[in-house]
Amino acid sequence: MKSVLIVEDEVGIHDVLEFYLENLDVEISFAEDITTAKNKMGEHTFDLILSDVHLKEDGNGIDLLKDVKSINQDLPFIIMTSFISALDAKEAYRLGADEFVAKPINQDELRNKLMHLLGSESEDSYKQNEFDDDLFCEVPLKSFISGKIAPFDIYIRIRNGKYIKVSNKGDNYNYEILKKFEDKGVEFLHALKKDFQDYTLMNLKICKALQDNKKIDDSKRMNFLVHSHNIIQESVFKLNFDDRTMSYINYYAKSVLNVLSKSHSYLNLLDHLRLECPDIYNYSLLSAIYALAISEKLEWESDERKTKLFLSGLLHDVGMKMIPEEIREKNPLYLTIEEKEELNEHPKHGMEILSTLHNVPSEVILAAYQHHEDVRGSGFPLKLKGHKISPFSKIIYITNHFSRYYLQGLKQDLANANASARAYHKFMDIHENLCEKSHLEAFKKLFPGESLD
Ligand SMILES: [Fe+2]
Repeated sequence: MKSVLIVEDEVGIHDVLEFYLENLDVEISFAEDITTAKNKMGEHTFDLILSDVHLKEDGNGIDLLKDVKSINQDLPFIIMTSFISALDAKEAYRLGADEFVAKPINQDELRNKLMHLLGSESEDSYKQNEFDDDLFCEVPLKSFISGKIAPFDIYIRIRNGKYIKVSNKGDNYNYEILKKFEDKGVEFLHALKKDFQDYTLMNLKICKALQDNKKIDDSKRMNFLVHSHNIIQESVFKLNFDDRTMSYINYYAKSVLNVLSKSHSYLNLLDHLRLECPDIYNYSLLSAIYALAISEKLEWESDERKTKLFLSGLLHDVGMKMIPEEIREKNPLYLTIEEKEELNEHPKHGMEILSTLHNVPSEVILAAYQHHEDVRGSGFPLKLKGHKISPFSKIIYITNHFSRYYLQGLKQDLANANASARAYHKFMDIHENLCEKSHLEAFKKLFPGESLD
């Protein structure tokens, strides 16, 4: 019979662990602190150590791991880690921990990992935590800040192809923990793409429920629309952008339009975006909403047309997905000629990506391709002029530039209530003569106090 030492300072959990490991052919001993653990190891030979990271008394699981591995590199060591100790997990991995189990513990996962390391057949197929990078996607830390319960299993990446689960779906976590992550420079956590896709769909179902529920107040609705937008953009940029994702986006666009048309709350939503910390994707939502606001001023009536325009705003920069991050993120002033050329390929990439899908309206594809063209023919990639540019593209040209200026301003000064007016003036200074007149007039009407004429 194999023998296992469990080091866990919460005595209440001992019974649970004993129950979880019931009927396995192992003998279990418990220690509540490192001194007791070491004494027991002196008296008895163990085949495996299972230790919590956090121990109250005389050191933590990492210290114990270090000591154990310095004496016997081959003694299997499993670390029990919680969301709060996710950052310690990296250190534990470096020191030679053989496995990790996320707390609260999942019984099957614990049994499988333990039996695998003891050289026995696992009950189910053993799931290694060496994964293919392609199975995972990044999820920005910010996406979690609005929630309290892990919406899916959450992983941290130790290195390429090595992920550790730090939280099971449904576990609680709180803002303080996330804040610690943020303070340590963690920007992303990871999820299995499959789980993330399910989560996206769930969000959309909630969107639908929110539309139909009259009791929900506007601010909650707005919050959720913004949150869902970020989730969807994550899907677009981080997962394979396929027909299924596109159908989610179509659905999302219809939901937003539905909410906005019922409450006439463009301004609420825009205000909400301003107050939300602007993140990398919000400019596309901002572009989409301003495009809709322009269409209102142009007195467009068709919902179908408005939906397409909104989608154009959401997806116009999807080609950026193909541009290396170091170029995308670089200050445009410091781009080399070659880098600039590469960046300017993004409309073409966008057109190509959207063309391969079955359910993207042609107007949306054109907007992705032409949103950097201007009426004077000085844009890119084709230097098209006037009527050769589609109306949707001309509107997105305005809202894309404006939204970027707006968010740049907010990034410098979040509390700046005049950020939109400043962005408006900046836009007018640079682009006034490069836009379609009627669209520009409609855009100006959105800033009645700022208009120069
Ligand atoms: Fe662009």
